[in-house]
Amino acid sequence: FQSYETSATAVYSVLVMLAMHPEIQDRVFEEVRSVFPDEVSSVGYDDMKKFPYLDMVIAETLRLAPPIPCIGRQTLNETELRPGVRIPKEMQVVIPIYELHRRKEIWGPEADRFNPDNFLPENIAKRHPCAYMAFSKGPRNCIGFRYAEFTLRVLLITLLRSLKFSTTFKYHDIVFMPKVTLGYEVEPLLSIEVRA
Ligand code: HEM
Repeated sequence: FQSYETSATAVYSVLVMLAMHPEIQDRVFEEVRSVFPDEVSSVGYDDMKKFPYLDMVIAETLRLAPPIPCIGRQTLNETELRPGVRIPKEMQVVIPIYELHRRKEIWGPEADRFNPDNFLPENIAKRHPCAYMAFSKGPRNCIGFRYAEFTLRVLLITLLRSLKFSTTFKYHDIVFMPKVTLGYEVEPLLSIEVRA
């Protein structure tokens, strides 16, 4: 669940978002083709730095569709978050990642729109580090974070270099619902075309 289900859901969601935003998919394809002009024979660790736009697309997908939409903690001590907001000792706290990722005070009036530019370095710098926590934060964050980032990129680079994804399903018709991980009420079907 922690490893396979989260990563598989994430890859599917990226493909859904790209199928619904063909101009963004074309930009990712151009980026991948510039690194692998003929075919993807193998992807090495050093290649990881060569796909800044794909990285933004993955982060934006995990913002809007975080595979783990909420997590829970229990306070060890009484904690004052800010003046007037006090959490007693041994209180169970739910951290609603899905809602946090769509708060308009943080992400702007178009918080629900799929916009990879949210993860341009200059835009990341403007936000609180905990505004985005698809992999949680702190000492008990995702232990497989780097591994997940690597597998997601290898899979997506390989798929997007040779295949084009499309769908008739519209972005605004997506209804998310909790399944094992964050799921779709109706999973958008994707058409797959082999690129010339
Ligand atoms: C896109 C993929 C992934 C996402 C979005 C994700 C997200 C998360 C989140 C939000 C947590 C915190 C859970 C909590 O506090 O209740 C977590 C914990 C964890 N993740 Fe991931 N994860 C992913 C992939 C992976 C992979 C690939 C592995 C292993 C290879 C992994 C192993 C773990 C483990 C063992 C924990 C528990 C860590 C602890 O409690 O100290 N995850 N993950």
